[in-house]
Amino acid sequence: MNQIVLRRIEDTRKLGLCMAGLVKAGDILLLSGDLGAGKTTLTRFLAQGLGIDEREVTSPTFSIIHEYRHGRIPVAHVDLYRLGKNAEISDIGLDEYLAGDFIIIMEWAEFLPESIGKDCLYMNIRMDRECKTRTVTFRQQGQSWKERLAELERCMKQH
Ligand SMILES: Nc1ncnc2c1ncn2[C@@H]1O[C@H](COP(=O)(O)OP(=O)(O)OP(=O)(O)O)[C@@H](O)[C@H]1O
Ligand SMILES: [Mg+2]
Repeated sequence: MNQIVLRRIEDTRKLGLCMAGLVKAGDILLLSGDLGAGKTTLTRFLAQGLGIDEREVTSPTFSIIHEYRHGRIPVAHVDLYRLGKNAEISDIGLDEYLAGDFIIIMEWAEFLPESIGKDCLYMNIRMDRECKTRTVTFRQQGQSWKERLAELERCMKQH
């Protein structure tokens, strides 16, 4: 599966919950897409699926990183928007999270100047002109998502 179309917010919820069943500590999810595409919303649903209180999940635009430690797997939620093209991985303070106990979910990953891990899942969310549907395009680096993307597709087809 390379693409999935989200027609309503419930579809985004389903994607987040399905992904929550598949993610593992050490995963790096790199989200891109315009303002309002739904990156934070997807992160919130995924976190909820991990047992994190969804009210904890807010946009880390100003603080750059939010940590949610109270779910099945701890999450580091990163937003590079404020750093823009000047983002430097060493400045973000990601080392602690890259050690592998966390899932890293990064918004505005298009601002990443370099690769941050050998296994990453890139997810681009594209809105149509009327902002009604959203198309998520998946691209994997490394092999770790190969089978999980097939499982994700099965999960999304279930009611
Ligand atoms: N199918 C959908 N999936 C996700 N969000 C949706 C959907 N339909 C409507 N929305 C709304 O679109 C908005 C998405 O905002 P969100 O903050 O998640 O975007 P974002 O990509 O994180 O933006 P930013 O670049 O500012 O961080 C929310 O208000 C959400 O309720
Ligand atoms: Mg956001």
